[in-house]
Amino acid sequence: MPWPRLAEVIRSGRPQGSRSAPGGLDGLYAQLAEGFFDLNHRTARWAVEAFPARRLRNVRRILDVAAGAGAWSTAFAKALPEARVTAFDSPAALRATRRQVSRMGVGKRYAFQAGDFRKTDFAAQTYDLVILGHVLHTLGPSDARELIHKSAAALRPDGALLAAGFLPNDVRTGPLLPLLFGLNMLLHTAAGHAYTLRQYRNWIREAGLHGARPLAAAAVSTPCGGVGTALSRRALQMKRWGGAS
Ligand SMILES: C[S@@+](CC[C@H](N)C(=O)[O-])C[C@H]1O[C@@H](n2cnc3c(N)ncnc32)[C@H](O)[C@@H]1O
Repeated sequence: MPWPRLAEVIRSGRPQGSRSAPGGLDGLYAQLAEGFFDLNHRTARWAVEAFPARRLRNVRRILDVAAGAGAWSTAFAKALPEARVTAFDSPAALRATRRQVSRMGVGKRYAFQAGDFRKTDFAAQTYDLVILGHVLHTLGPSDARELIHKSAAALRPDGALLAAGFLPNDVRTGPLLPLLFGLNMLLHTAAGHAYTLRQYRNWIREAGLHGARPLAAAAVSTPCGGVGTALSRRALQMKRWGGAS
């Protein structure tokens, strides 16, 4: 993805929005969803492995918000043969979801809900696991907070929220890849940014979720240095990938 107006964005520190694809960045994501699949699915499999077994055992209903090609939920669906998944995204992105979940052999356990998460309330207290995979950083802070609140409302009382993103440290001095990713969001989204762990924690706590701790201590590198965060009403769990925190 090119970096137009780089100097302007760095000087202002403000997002410049996307003019790089018809329909803005969402349209571009819909085109690229399958391209991101392998990378994100690999990270998602680590998240499944690091998920507490006791909690994982109880997961039957999953909501994959902004599912894209289903990179995150297919990892859970593969590991949990009884789990059923609702994939939520735009109609264009859901075409990629359908293709990919079918390729992964889990399509029969998927339902598809087309919509705009800014205008949709998910079914209340319905899901054991809600996934926010690499979507919060595409939003401005108030929209990110609101999406976390909506996702929390969709959880059953003991449900878990898994949010994955690229997290710089709280003073934004590193790691390098999350910082570069944040710059990418400033350049290509209307309001997005790479948010810190502290910001995630605050939003999550405000949404009634609590008990944060890392999913696993071991650092695992990916080409993008992603960071995954798993959250629940009783435990918020996080895992950093691809760099020191
Ligand atoms: C960066 S992709 C992430 C896809 C997938 N979760 C992953 O990690 O591979 C962001 C996704 O959010 C979806 N999206 C963005 N804005 C949305 C909205 N307002 N309502 C529903 N989906 C949206 C896009 O279509 C895209 O599939």
